[in-house]
Amino acid sequence: MSALLEVKHLKKYFSTHKGVVHAVDDVTFSLDEGKTMGVVGESGCGKSTLGRTIIHLQEPTEGQIIFQGEDVTHLKRKDLDRLRENMQIVFQDPYSSLNPRLSVRDTIAEPLILSHKFKGAALEKEVNRLMELVGIEKRLHNAYPHEMDGGRRQRVGIGRALALNPKFIVCDEPVSALDVSIQAQVLNLLMDLQQENKLTYMFVTHDLSVVRHISDSICVMYLGQLVETCSTEELFKNQLHPYSKALLSAIPSVDIHNPTKRIVIKGEIVSPIDPKPGCRFAARCPYACEACKEPQKLEMISTGHFVSCCRVKEINQLS
Ligand SMILES: Nc1ncnc2c1ncn2[C@@H]1O[C@H](COP(=O)(O)OP(=O)(O)O)[C@@H](O)[C@H]1O
Ligand SMILES: [Mg+2]
Repeated sequence: MSALLEVKHLKKYFSTHKGVVHAVDDVTFSLDEGKTMGVVGESGCGKSTLGRTIIHLQEPTEGQIIFQGEDVTHLKRKDLDRLRENMQIVFQDPYSSLNPRLSVRDTIAEPLILSHKFKGAALEKEVNRLMELVGIEKRLHNAYPHEMDGGRRQRVGIGRALALNPKFIVCDEPVSALDVSIQAQVLNLLMDLQQENKLTYMFVTHDLSVVRHISDSICVMYLGQLVETCSTEELFKNQLHPYSKALLSAIPSVDIHNPTKRIVIKGEIVSPIDPKPGCRFAARCPYACEACKEPQKLEMISTGHFVSCCRVKEINQLS
């Protein structure tokens, strides 16, 4: 099976008056069709920038994005429109991502009209089909975003993203702004839609219980870099990078006889502005040594399990 999406050495830098922000710095992964890849890490580590750059809301600084076997890193306008039909995004906050002046009908109809594929009765029929697909009641056809609760607003956002039948969707913290009681409903909707439409998701979240529930594989990011990636099962059972260990230790254990020992990360968060070469977690890592000042390479430890840490074998007593 070949990958739907391959990202190779992707970088996205922002020039600011304080210096160059290395928001995404040399990220490599691949994602198979129909699968969900979770992306986790603290706020500011580059999760949203990674998603936005992959779907071309922002121009990559360096690296390669290969989608369905085609290099789509630098596209011309016309080809970009074609790509947009296949790559969509669902944002965290449906309050700000939906246009407050557009009704449900207009929000969902807009991409259909812009694609020139639907008009007249066929357009209205398609809008109704999409509303039903994402579970929006018919009576809300002419409602505006402020007239609906957060869960329904997010359903409208999902309906709009699905309008042109995309293959790949970046879900950027799609349930983080919702009440806990509504989160499960929206997650279930996303999973049902994935099944029915063979969708491939990149699912960004800081919530590890959500990512465990929904993802086939996980990328752990720290300050713009990928520190570990493997299957979800493997990460929760056998996380190898010191940062992943600390991150996962924050999840309370359900087993009272075997409580998780929480690893508290000490030390300063390094700035993503003009960072020094070498491991960015080193300043906070209990295992840091001289060799960590050198640039780190993502290394395959076992099939499908990659870690970026020069001391990974020592720390985990692997041969
Ligand atoms: N347009 C921008 N201009 C300058 N810096 C940015 C811009 N967008 C994001 N950043 C910076 O890039 C880093 C990563 O941000 P982001 O991708 O939003 O992280 P996350 O989604 O993981 O919270 C942060 O330091 C953020 O301040
Ligand atoms: Mg974000």
